[in-house]
Amino acid sequence: MGATAPRTHRTQRGGTAVTDADQADQVRSDAVEAALGKLDLDTKARLLAGQDMWSLPAVPGIGLKSLVMSDGPIGVRGVRWTADDPSIALPSPTALAAAWDPALARRAGRLLAQEARRKGVHVLLAPTVNLHRSPLGGRHFECYSEDPYLTGAIGSGYVNGVQEGGVATTVKHFVGNDAETERFTVDSVIAPRPLRELYLAPFEAIVANAHPWGIMTAYNQVNGTTMTEHTHLVNEVLRAEWGFEGYNVSDWMAARSTTGDILGGLDVAMPGPTTVYGAPLAEAVRAGEVPESAVDDAVRNVLRLAARVGILEGAPAAVAEPPAPIDGQALAREIAARGFVLVRNEGALPLDPGAGRTVALIGAAARDARVLGGGSATVFPERVVSPLDGLTGALPDGALTFAVGADPSGELSPADKGFQLRAICRDASGAVLGEGSLPTGQVQWIGDDLPEGAAYETMASIEVTGTFLPRESGEHAFGTRGLGAFALAVGGRPLWEGVQQMGDEADPFEAFFGAPSERARIALTAGEPVEVSLTFQVPDTSALPLKAIMFSLLHLGPQRDADELIAEAVEAARAADTAVVVVATTERVESEGFDRKDLALPGRQDDLVRAVAAVNPNTVVVVNAGSPVELPWREDVAAVLLTWFPGQEGGAALADVLLGDAEPGGRLPTTWPAELADAPVTEVTPAEGRLEYREGLFIGYRAYEARGAVPAFPFGHGLGYTDWAYESLEATATTARVRVTNTGTRPGREVVQVYLAPVADAVERPASWLAAFAGVEAGPGESVEVEIALPARAFEIWDEAAGGWQRVGGTYEVRAAHSHGDTRLTATLDVA
Ligand code: BGC
Repeated sequence: MGATAPRTHRTQRGGTAVTDADQADQVRSDAVEAALGKLDLDTKARLLAGQDMWSLPAVPGIGLKSLVMSDGPIGVRGVRWTADDPSIALPSPTALAAAWDPALARRAGRLLAQEARRKGVHVLLAPTVNLHRSPLGGRHFECYSEDPYLTGAIGSGYVNGVQEGGVATTVKHFVGNDAETERFTVDSVIAPRPLRELYLAPFEAIVANAHPWGIMTAYNQVNGTTMTEHTHLVNEVLRAEWGFEGYNVSDWMAARSTTGDILGGLDVAMPGPTTVYGAPLAEAVRAGEVPESAVDDAVRNVLRLAARVGILEGAPAAVAEPPAPIDGQALAREIAARGFVLVRNEGALPLDPGAGRTVALIGAAARDARVLGGGSATVFPERVVSPLDGLTGALPDGALTFAVGADPSGELSPADKGFQLRAICRDASGAVLGEGSLPTGQVQWIGDDLPEGAAYETMASIEVTGTFLPRESGEHAFGTRGLGAFALAVGGRPLWEGVQQMGDEADPFEAFFGAPSERARIALTAGEPVEVSLTFQVPDTSALPLKAIMFSLLHLGPQRDADELIAEAVEAARAADTAVVVVATTERVESEGFDRKDLALPGRQDDLVRAVAAVNPNTVVVVNAGSPVELPWREDVAAVLLTWFPGQEGGAALADVLLGDAEPGGRLPTTWPAELADAPVTEVTPAEGRLEYREGLFIGYRAYEARGAVPAFPFGHGLGYTDWAYESLEATATTARVRVTNTGTRPGREVVQVYLAPVADAVERPASWLAAFAGVEAGPGESVEVEIALPARAFEIWDEAAGGWQRVGGTYEVRAAHSHGDTRLTATLDVA
C-alpha cells in the first residue's frame, strides 16, 4: 500500500503538537484565501454554478482547473452515458452493507477512487445514506440499512476509502429523502427525536468518523423548508454543531432560490449552465439581498475542495500519491460473496460436488443477470458474469442445464441482448454530423455529452440504428420511451411513425424513468439478424435550462406461454440432483424516480418456485433483488440465498458460494417482512405534499419488536457454512467482550452483534437497538475473543427540551447476538 492518507508524523513546536496534516491544511487554507482574494464577484458567483451537467468552470487566473463530479455509488460512470468508457460495477449498497464490514467498504471506496482518477473525476456523488424506512422506497437498493448505526459505520468506511484515494465524496441525500414519490417537492415531516436518532444519525457519524469533503442536499423539504435552503439543518446542525467543513452541492436541479439557497448554506447549484447561481447570484449581491460574505463562504468551501483533490495551483493535494492499484474484478467478486445472505439452508448448500451430480439452473435472470439498480446509480461495466456464465465455468461439462421457467420482465425495456447499436446525428439536410456507439437502446445525452461533431444548434435528428440478432423465433415487440416525434423501422420495413406528448408526470426525468409504449410487433427468426432503426426528431432545446436528449428504443422478446415455460423448468428440475432457481425484480420494480407498489416477485416466479420445489427436494432459490421481496414459498424450499444486485462479477461469486469455495458472508442489513402488510411503514405517498413520519422512532426491527410481530427474516440474520457457539460476554459501559467458538467443520466469519435493551425504561425508546458489532474469523474448533467498543451515543436519546443529547442512566441488558432475533448471551449493566 502506498501513501494513502496524510501522514501523522508528529513534531513538537512550542509545546503544541503539529502534524504534517495540520501543516498541509494550513498551506491549503493560505492558498484558498489567496485565490479567493483575487476573484471578482462575477467570477465567484460563476464558480458556484455548474458549467454543464457534471463540472464547475475552470478559473485559469487563479490556477483552478475544472472540478468534475460523477455518480456513484457502485461505480464511477464518468461524465458520459456510454459503454465506450466502461466502469467496474460493484454490488448494490444493500449488498455492501450486508457484509457488515466497514473495512471492506473502505476497500470498495479505494477502488472507486482509483476508478475516479482513471476517468478524471474529482468528486464521487456517493454514498447514499438515507434509511430503509419502508421497503417500498424505490431507491432502497441504493441505501445501506434500516439501522442508523450500521449505515453510519458502512458509510464511514466507504468515505474513508474514497478519500484515501484523493477523491472527494458527497454524502447524500441530506436529509429525509427516504422515498421517491413526489421527491422534488415532498415535505418529509419528522419529529426531532427520529430526525436526530434515525435520519440525521448516519450523516453525523460519517462527519465525525470520516470527515467527508462534500454533502448533497436533497430535493425534498423537511418540516416545511426545502433542504437546499435549510439554514437550520445545514448551517446550524451540519456545519456549526457537527463541524462539517466540506462543500454542499444541491441534488441535480434541486436549487430553486438564489437568496434562499445561498443563505441556507448551499455552496454549489448543479447542474448548469442555467442555475439560480452564476449571474442571478451576483445580481442578488448587487441588489443588497445577499451579503458578499455569504458568496465568499461558499467559494471558500469550493476552493478548499479543489485544493484537496489537487486542482488548485499552489495547494498540496490531500493525497499526494494514489494508493496501490486494486484489481476491480476480483474485489467485485469478493464483495458479492461477502454480501450474499443465506437466510435458509436445510443442508442443501454448499452443493455436493460428487461426480456426476447435476444442476438445473432456472430463471430468466440466471441468463440475463440483473447486476445493478436503475437510475443515476447506473454504470456500464465491461463485462457481466451471469449465474449461467458463472456456473457453466465452474461445473464439469454436462452437469448443468438451463431453463427460463418464468420471465419476470414481461414489459418492453431498452434494447439490449442481441442488439449492436449506434446513434447517428444528422442536420436538417440529412448530412451526418456525428456518430456514437450505444450500450443499449437508451439514449441519454446531457449537456455536452454528445457524439463528436454533433451540436444542439445544428442537430435535426438522431437515428438509433444497427442490427438485432434474435435469440428466439416469434413475435418481437418494439417500442419507445421519451417525448417527441419518432419513426421506427425493422428489417427495412417502416413499422410506426408518431409523436409522444408530455403526460401528467412533473418529474423532469420522465423520459428516462417513464412508462414504455409499444409501437409495433414483427415476427423474427432466431439467429437471423435484422436491421433496426428508430429516428427521433430533435426538439428545439434553446429555451431549456438544461440541454438534454433522452429517449429509448425498447424491445420485448416473444412471450412464450407461461405454463409451458414452467412445465419445461419442472422437467429440467426433475431430471437434476439440485434445482437452482434465480428469481428477480426488474428495472420497472426497483429504480430511482418512483417507489414500489408491492413486494411481490413480478410475473409467474412464485408459481415457478412452487412447481420446481414440488418435484425437487433440493431446490435452492437465489433472490436477485436489491431490496426485500415476499417469498411466500420460503419454508418449502431447501435453501434461500439473497444475492441483492450483485455487481458485474455476481455470477462468478454465486458459483463460488454455491460450490462452497466461498462462504456466504452476509447478514441482513434490513428486516425482511413476510408480507408487505407486516412492514412497519407501508405508506410512501405524500398526502397534500406532506409525508408524515408518524411511526416516529419505530422503523425496521424497532417496530417489529414493539408490535411483537415476526418477520420472515430478522435484522442481522444470515447463515454461513459453519456454526458458532457464544461462550462468554462481559460488558462495561464502554465495551462488550465476547468469546465465540467456531463449532463447525469449515473456517468462517461471524458478525458478533451487540444490542442494548433497557430494563424498565423511564423514557419512550425501542425495546432494543444495535449498539455495536464486530466481525471475527476462526477456523474449525478455534475460539476468538473480541472486544467491541460501545459508543456513548448508544446510551443517549435526543431531548429537544433539554437542549440535546441526554444520557439515559439505569439498567441495561447487553445482548451478544447472532441476529436481532437470535440473542445468544446476555449481561446486565448499570450505567450512570
Ligand atoms: C439523484 C442523485 C444523483 C444526481 C446526479 C439525482 O437525480 O437523486 O443521487 O447524484 O441525480 O445524477
